[in-house]
Amino acid sequence: MDPFRNPFAPGAGSRPPELAGRDAILEMAKVSCGRALNGRSSRSIMLLGLRGVGKTVLLNEIGRNAEGAGLLVSRVEAPEGENLARLIFPEMRRVLRSLSNVEAAKQLTKRGLGALRNFAAVFRIEMGGIEFGVEPEAGLAETGDIQYDLPELFVIIGRAAQSAKRAWLLLIDEVQYLSEPDLAALIVSLHRVAQEGLPILMVGAGLPQIARLAGEAKSYSERLFQYPAVGALDPESAKKAIEKPITDEGATNAPDALAAIVEQTKGYPFFLQEWASVVWDNAQGPEIRIADVNQSYAETLRKLDEGFFKVRIDRLTKAEVQFVKAMAELGDGPYPMADIAKIMSRSQQSLGPARASIISKGMIYSADHGYLDFSVPLFADFMRRQG
Ligand SMILES: Nc1ncnc2c1ncn2[C@@H]1O[C@H](COP(=O)(O)OP(=O)(O)OP(=O)(O)O)[C@@H](O)[C@H]1O
Ligand SMILES: [Mg+2]
Repeated sequence: MDPFRNPFAPGAGSRPPELAGRDAILEMAKVSCGRALNGRSSRSIMLLGLRGVGKTVLLNEIGRNAEGAGLLVSRVEAPEGENLARLIFPEMRRVLRSLSNVEAAKQLTKRGLGALRNFAAVFRIEMGGIEFGVEPEAGLAETGDIQYDLPELFVIIGRAAQSAKRAWLLLIDEVQYLSEPDLAALIVSLHRVAQEGLPILMVGAGLPQIARLAGEAKSYSERLFQYPAVGALDPESAKKAIEKPITDEGATNAPDALAAIVEQTKGYPFFLQEWASVVWDNAQGPEIRIADVNQSYAETLRKLDEGFFKVRIDRLTKAEVQFVKAMAELGDGPYPMADIAKIMSRSQQSLGPARASIISKGMIYSADHGYLDFSVPLFADFMRRQG
């Protein structure tokens, strides 16, 4: 069918034509945002899920909704190895500047910008040649320890937002790449503003290991955040994700054609988009049939292997590849560490560094005590396809 009209959107962070099955999470975020805006206590949210399940698009949608509701919204993605101070400095500056237009918040934003100036100095952040036009604010955010300085800034920003009757929503993607001290600082900051009833919220997204990371960073993080799991779509939602865009374009699909995609992708959003997109291009139309689906299977797999799976494994060293190969040989996860060691004829201890490194690269995560699993859905199948 006409590729120009292909509605499907395979790709990292690509907005799907139909954001199916996420109403409960979107609603949860709307409630948190609405409460913050009304000066009520509200909980931050951490979206946890495997690769390609739709965390980024959900984060973006939450951001759009929040902007529509009148919140100030910041979006950042934590790249590996970047520090939090540098990452959110421009956002804090932007938010303070925008609040400074509100008369009731002028004094506070002036102090805030002064504190931010100290912050930039102690963390050696380039201010981009733009002069603040404000004096440093003595004694605020100037220890150089992010766990002290960030909460102080959050409190000032929160008070300024409160005076202006606004709220700030901070969206952070790929939270698992934040260092432990940075994650702890973020949690402490959110805790402080929550205690003072200030209107700052965070919605974070990342791999499932964050729940544990956050717990280790600060024990009260469990109460601070809601942790909705973002997983594969249930069969109804998966069906809707494919069928609605097709009918919106005036085409149709045979029920068994749809069922085959839903079943074989197990409802994983990335796979759904990829397969549906290939089928659309290959089908004669106007009805998509089971034969179209079957004929597109090989091409879809090839695209997924090249575009989705291979990029993950390219980041591993040879020894690390051996490790994940051994996992895949054991079947589908989760995998007891003891079994991986056994199949590799190694001691668990000697595999510790490889395990830690693969986890830090976001390829696997520790699922439960002594168990590991892939953070990429259907990855074991991919490894086995490689032979
Ligand atoms: N609810 C949904 N319904 C249909 N398609 C979706 C849905 N959510 C995401 N998708 C599609 O799935 C793909 C992956 O989405 P996204 O990049 O947001 O995943 P992710 O969880 O952020 O992945 P990663 O962990 O690799 O960053 C995109 O092609 C997107 O269009
Ligand atoms: Mg993402």
